[in-house]
Amino acid sequence: MRDEVVSSVLDGEVLVLTINNPPVNALSNAVRTQLQAAVLAARSEHAVAGIVITGAGKCFSAGADIRELGGERTHPWTGEVATTIETSTKPVVVAIHGHALGGGLEIALGAHYRITEPSARFALPEVRLGLLPGGGGTQRLPRLVGAGQAVRMMMSGDSISAGDAAEIGLVDAISDKGTLVDRAKEQVRKMAAAGILRRTCDATALSDTAASLKQVDEVWKKLEGKAKRQVAPARIADAVRAAALHSLDDGLAVEAVGFAECMASPQRQGLIHAFLAEKRATHSPVNAPGRDIRSVAVIGGGTMGSGIVAALLNAGFEVMMMERDETSLAAGKERVSAIFQRSIKSGRLDETGVACALRRFAGSTCYSDIATADLVIEAAFEDMNVKKAIFSELDRVCKQGAILATNTSYLDVNEIAASVCRSSDVIGLHFFSPAHVMKLLEVVAAEATAPDVIATGFELAKKLGKTPVLAGVCDGFIGNRILYVFREAANFLMEDGASPYEIDEALEEFGFAMGPFRTADLTGGDIGWATRQRKAANRDPHARYVRIADALCERGWFGQKAGRGYYRYDEPGRGLCDPDVLEIIERERKERGVRARRFSGQEIVDRYLAAMVNEAAKILDDGIALRPSDIDVTMVLGYGFPRWKGGPLKYADMEGLPGILKNIRTFATDDPLFWKPAPLLLFLVEEGKCFEDLNRKEKKHA
Ligand code: 3HC
Repeated sequence: MRDEVVSSVLDGEVLVLTINNPPVNALSNAVRTQLQAAVLAARSEHAVAGIVITGAGKCFSAGADIRELGGERTHPWTGEVATTIETSTKPVVVAIHGHALGGGLEIALGAHYRITEPSARFALPEVRLGLLPGGGGTQRLPRLVGAGQAVRMMMSGDSISAGDAAEIGLVDAISDKGTLVDRAKEQVRKMAAAGILRRTCDATALSDTAASLKQVDEVWKKLEGKAKRQVAPARIADAVRAAALHSLDDGLAVEAVGFAECMASPQRQGLIHAFLAEKRATHSPVNAPGRDIRSVAVIGGGTMGSGIVAALLNAGFEVMMMERDETSLAAGKERVSAIFQRSIKSGRLDETGVACALRRFAGSTCYSDIATADLVIEAAFEDMNVKKAIFSELDRVCKQGAILATNTSYLDVNEIAASVCRSSDVIGLHFFSPAHVMKLLEVVAAEATAPDVIATGFELAKKLGKTPVLAGVCDGFIGNRILYVFREAANFLMEDGASPYEIDEALEEFGFAMGPFRTADLTGGDIGWATRQRKAANRDPHARYVRIADALCERGWFGQKAGRGYYRYDEPGRGLCDPDVLEIIERERKERGVRARRFSGQEIVDRYLAAMVNEAAKILDDGIALRPSDIDVTMVLGYGFPRWKGGPLKYADMEGLPGILKNIRTFATDDPLFWKPAPLLLFLVEEGKCFEDLNRKEKKHA
């Protein structure tokens, strides 16, 4: 027997259809088929005067089943169901709780009346998956709320509250919690008795065609360059323009063409991969419940420490900041306060929210004050001796069962863990700067880390609204280890003839938020310089070493904060190309006997990406990452890799692994040590497989 995912119950003359497809009532093929059949059957059912559609569980519907997207489009698709509902001769009321997203909202737009719980949220987030709303949303939403509002919702994908939805005319009524379905039944009875059908296709918010077209153009003009290079936003604009100009049916035809184009685009593949990869990464890799965390101590009030404190306060934790003296503590508290002031200014928080967060915040210079903390996150200076001294104090004062975490970005967490008597309580929690904004959290499991400590790292990430990725211990874990290698590839390109400006331009054109040299100027050259000096003694004497960054640092050109780096920052802004830098590069080339050659934008991208993919494959070989998609998540969320390309390993799969390997072998003719192909890459090419094959295997932490 076919599974029932839409149940129907007749209450008097009202047919209540409940979508029941846990966890989020995604509109799978089965849901669409059963919903369509039930609404059609009700047409000829004399006992039915009207229909209520609602969702079981935690939401109305999160839209299309994302896992099904990309396969053959099967009838009835969401738009057909929405049209069946809209053309029903008996009134249809939807009762919305939780979320009405994407196709879920499009179904609701087909109905004749929308009633919602106050906490519900509404969005057409298809653009985030590289799609346009393909279930009639581009036509019905503007008719209901106007072109400007509709196009803004569709281009951003952001959700709005029930209150805002009511204000713009997207929903008709807000019900008290608990009475939603009863209110919907009452409404449908009234409409049936009065013979009222309020079809969205007849709504008039687009009646001023010229004004509607102008609104679409205004939103389009404000979009930044990168969004304009994506397929979906342009097709959304086309479809809404068509809504303003044409009949519903003609507009739906434009929507269908745009949807098909988006579906065929590699951007859609990349974005859906990124969505699913994040969901996969979020699952704890161990079968153990986490420990209970209420109070957290953060050691260090610098940029990182204060960002971590702000993130914890925002998530509702009690937080104690520890600093070595009163002056440093005051400076750390000031940084936290500045973060919250900026949040108020940007409208992300209000005064009351900030006051409430700061009431849970305290500071101390005395270790004994953190004795009762459930979790301690050390965010002090990146020096093993400093870390060990702090951990020895933590070992002395912290209560049994407290988790001792380090925010180190590359130091050996095994060594830190081995320096205390409770190694199993030690873990790495690598935040990215600014820690209250960046979504990525590398959860670094040391050899001795207990499973429940790892699970706590994952639970903490969720509470902080971050995406955790499990990483093993090595220099730089997942992200910074790969960063080191692709930065090297960029340095080699620079010494061999490409200017830093050409390299940045090529990679920004590819879609990176920022090229590597702009990024270096932003983060500050001094940190990398110190790391290179620290590693100098152990550097492979056969490995190529480019001295240009050192030459800039020797002049104090540490980037933006110094007013000079690879770029000049004479005035606030993006930075200007600097002829002096080009001269220094030329001098370094001469000293090393390098004859500069030209590199096309494509070759710059090929080398940079090949370095990234090769190192990522080595990381998988070494067991540092659990699966390829975790590396994609790391690079997208932490290193500005364009989300619509899915991440470096999705990109590699789409380009074809044989081509990537061929590039690596070509580059290796000049530098076989740097361009040594990863064994995993060789294996996958030999077997005719791709990285996605490895994502499909269920993985647990050993
Ligand atoms: N399809 C399939 N699975 C979905 C899904 C969807 N639309 N939305 C969520 N899920 C899955 C998640 O992958 C996760 O599965 P897992 O436990 O196996 O990893 C599970 O549901 C729970 O999701 P979350 O962990 O994200 O739960 P939250 O409560 O934190 O968030 C949510 C719920 C707000 C619904 C969030 O998951 C979300 O934003 N989902 C995406 C919604 C979306 O983009 N919809 C548009 C689809 S495209 C469309 O409708 C096309 C149409 O125009 C034709």
